[in-house]
Amino acid sequence: MVKAIVYTSKTGNTKEYARLLGEKLALPYYDVKTAIHKLPKNTEIIYLGWLMAGILKGHKKANKHFNIEAVCPVGMLNVKEQLDNIIKVNKIQSGIQVFCLDGGLEIDRLNGISKLVMKIMKSGITKGLSEKQNKTEDDEKMLKFVQNCCSLVDETNLGEIIRWYSK
Ligand SMILES: Cc1cc2nc3c(=O)[nH]c(=O)nc-3n(C[C@H](O)[C@H](O)[C@H](O)COP(=O)(O)O)c2cc1C
Repeated sequence: MVKAIVYTSKTGNTKEYARLLGEKLALPYYDVKTAIHKLPKNTEIIYLGWLMAGILKGHKKANKHFNIEAVCPVGMLNVKEQLDNIIKVNKIQSGIQVFCLDGGLEIDRLNGISKLVMKIMKSGITKGLSEKQNKTEDDEKMLKFVQNCCSLVDETNLGEIIRWYSK
C-alpha cells in the first residue's frame, strides 16, 4: 500500500502536483532527499519527477531506495505523447503505473544553462510557428503556450491517478 508521495522539482510545478496529490490522497509528500532520511527503505511510494530532455529527474535515486508503485513524469506540454520514450529512457518496469502530467514552463524560475536553452527554444518555436502558413490546431496551441509560458498545474489533471489509487 502506498505510504507517501516523493518528488523532484526544479521550478515548482512538480512540487505543486505533489502537494495537491498529497492533499487529495491524504498522504505525506517529500522531496527525494528528505524522503531518503525520513522513510524506511522499500517504502511504497508514488514518484513525481520533472522531465529534462526525456530524463525523469530523481527517478534513479528514488528507485534505489523505494518501492515505486506509480510514476508521474511532469513535463512542459502534451507529455502523454512522450510516454513510450519516457518508459524506455528511464527503464520503467512493466507493471508500474505511469501518469503523465503537463506542468508548463517557467523560464523566469530557471537559471544558468537551462534558462538559456529554454529561451533559445522559445524564440525558435515562436519564430518557426509564427511564420508557418496554415497552422494546425496543435501549432496554435504550442505557439500560444510558448508565448505565454506559464504553469499548467491543475488539480483536474490528477483525476486518472486518483481513480487508480482509489481502486
Ligand atoms: C533543460 C530542460 C529540458 C526539458 N526537457 C523537457 C522534456 O524533455 N519534455 C518535457 O515535456 N518538458 C521538458 N522540460 C520542461 C519541464 O519538464 C517543465 O517545465 C516542468 O514543468 C518542470 O517541472 P518543475 O517546475 O517541477 O521543475 C524541460 C525543461 C528544461 C529546463
